[in-house]
Amino acid sequence: MKHYFSILFASLTFSAFAQTPIDVDKEFAFATKQYELMLKAHPDTTKFPQSTNPDGTIRDMKSDWWCSGFFGGSLWYLYERTKAPAMKDAAHKWSMAVAKEQYNTGTHDLGFMLYCPFGNGYRLTKNESYKPIMLTGAKSLSTRFDPKVGVIKSWNKFQNYMYPVIIDNMMNLEFLFWAARESGNKQFRDIAITHADNTLKNHFRPDYSSYHVICYNPDGTVAAKKTAQGAADGSAWARGQAWGLYGYTVMYRETKDKKYLDQARHIADFYLNHPNLPADKIPFWDFNAPNIPNEERDASAGAITASALLELSTYGGPSAKTYYQSAVKMLQSLASPAYKANLGENNNFILKHSVGHKPGKSEVDTPIIYADYYFLEGLLRYDTLRKKPENKS
Ligand code: GLY
Repeated sequence: MKHYFSILFASLTFSAFAQTPIDVDKEFAFATKQYELMLKAHPDTTKFPQSTNPDGTIRDMKSDWWCSGFFGGSLWYLYERTKAPAMKDAAHKWSMAVAKEQYNTGTHDLGFMLYCPFGNGYRLTKNESYKPIMLTGAKSLSTRFDPKVGVIKSWNKFQNYMYPVIIDNMMNLEFLFWAARESGNKQFRDIAITHADNTLKNHFRPDYSSYHVICYNPDGTVAAKKTAQGAADGSAWARGQAWGLYGYTVMYRETKDKKYLDQARHIADFYLNHPNLPADKIPFWDFNAPNIPNEERDASAGAITASALLELSTYGGPSAKTYYQSAVKMLQSLASPAYKANLGENNNFILKHSVGHKPGKSEVDTPIIYADYYFLEGLLRYDTLRKKPENKS
């Protein structure tokens, strides 16, 4: 009898946790073919694939748009896996197409724009010409940090506020840590840490969900807590939660300061335990969107979260396995026909069903380039981690 129950328990445990492995080779073979078509459709390197227009045509953007680095970055991930020389050439070409943004001091998004393409390119090729581009970019980004306020300014103005900071800005800090190491200039690192500490203090609610926009006064006090892309000021915009999770996971990687690990775990737990997270673990565009379940999903938030959770799972703790298994579930969902396009469809993007800015009626239920980027990153991380004994179940 006892034996029967232990078999029953073992098989229940097994069915609850066993996961069909993702065929990473197959995913990359498909993504490579799809992006070869994307490259053919984009002969002009001033037009960066971004998403889809309401009439179904491709929406391209210029290099000064915050997403311009994701195409080059995705091509580097494809090269990392396939080692195809043509993919390396394309990744280099589309990275260089963003290089002039190194002088752009009008945006906080230089981490996305420069570190996603050149950071990956440098990691994979050690091409020394990428380094000065990134170091100039990191200096440009640092000009947006006012020590009296203690955070990097995101936008120059939001409503009537002159110092808005969005949770997304946590994603630019990895770039500053790289710049500090490469240049020996500790200031880059200090800025990143001060920004992360003030964001931790001001951006989060007691349940560890985050506001999208915190508007600061010139003395560093908080003037207002708002949203731009979420459903309401007090709601949990899904991609914002993903950016915060990813950002604090990187903060722990870079500093080994336990408070950042705790923060990342709290954000992960908020996300994974939320009653509005669907069974396939791809969130609605806002956890508090008013008409759930009749709201759009955001595949981009799913992809960013999956990638972040995979890294977080490597830092141990009682939930490490849950983080790993949840991330795998997210990647499995994204790799299923519910989210993944067919070859030559979806304007040649890999994933369908992201939401850019629903209140702004922009990119609602469309492919978006950064969903593809973090999906590929997540698949690469998964492929490394699945071979570890603790992840074989
Ligand atoms: N950084 C803007 C966004 O996530 O849409």
